[in-house]
Amino acid sequence: MNYRHAFHAGNVADVLKHAVLALCLERLTQKDKPFAVIDSHAGLAWYDLGGDEARRSPEFKDGIARLWAADIPDAAAPALAPYLAAVRAAKPDGALRWYPGSPALAAEIARPQDRLRLCELHPDDVRRLRDHFDGDARVAVTAGDGYAALNALLPPPEKRGLVLIDPPFEHVDEMAHMAAAAVAALTRWPTGTFVFWRPLKDLWAAERFDVGLAEWLIAERDVAAEKILRADLWVRELGDDGPLAGAGVVVVNPPFQLDEKLRALLPWLSERLKRGDGAGWRLDGAIAEDSLLVDEF
Ligand SMILES: C[S@@+](CC[C@H](N)C(=O)[O-])C[C@H]1O[C@@H](n2cnc3c(N)ncnc32)[C@H](O)[C@@H]1O
Repeated sequence: MNYRHAFHAGNVADVLKHAVLALCLERLTQKDKPFAVIDSHAGLAWYDLGGDEARRSPEFKDGIARLWAADIPDAAAPALAPYLAAVRAAKPDGALRWYPGSPALAAEIARPQDRLRLCELHPDDVRRLRDHFDGDARVAVTAGDGYAALNALLPPPEKRGLVLIDPPFEHVDEMAHMAAAAVAALTRWPTGTFVFWRPLKDLWAAERFDVGLAEWLIAERDVAAEKILRADLWVRELGDDGPLAGAGVVVVNPPFQLDEKLRALLPWLSERLKRGDGAGWRLDGAIAEDSLLVDEF
């Protein structure tokens, strides 16, 4: 278990994932009824962008830092507002020093009546999460495998809320592992909002996950195609070796108008974050054949 998110916090992949997460959570706050957030691979609450890991690998400079200084156009602003408000929560002086991981983002947006269930395998991160949320009655931290924990945590008693599944993809079989977990979790809780993050590195594996999940939901679970949304962003040509060029999320049971907000955001975000030729984005339902990035798939 070598993966440490502190080397990647605030990068391009975090920006899209966290903007989507914040939009979904903000929508959940529009009803008084409590909701639950289940984060299967939580990482830390906050990341120090001035810390050793971020200094050695300053990926945030091509991610959140490019937004921080940006004049965000009116069309894109609503899609970024809940995310940037949560990022700004720790920076009363306006400096970009601390970046929220998914646990802090969720805690910023959740209300007193809502609950967070954070699962994390790394013992240091478990300890730091528990320290950070000590005294916050909304939050419980489960130490151990997040996929296994989902069996006990789903469905949550609130019967409304969101599951984030955001593994480190250290192992070649992670995509298959996530697919199996997705089927089990959606069988346990068909009406929850699910956000699955995956890298666009092995494009075939990503496509298999997306299309396989969409087809299973539609054919086996009678889910309407509009209940599956895929949003991806890549900052240079996909398929090259080297640092991650792109990533995105598959959202099942997305909140109302998430697609519209992302359609307004993604063209601007792509332009703002691109790092070379071949940058792009897509927003679709994972089932349209002409949307495939892998021509010969
Ligand atoms: C990509 S990071 C999570 C980032 C976080 N969700 C965010 O958006 O800020 C993946 C995390 O999963 C943890 N992890 C690895 N294997 C795990 C497992 N089987 N169950 C739970 N957590 C795991 C890693 O220690 C790491 O903190």
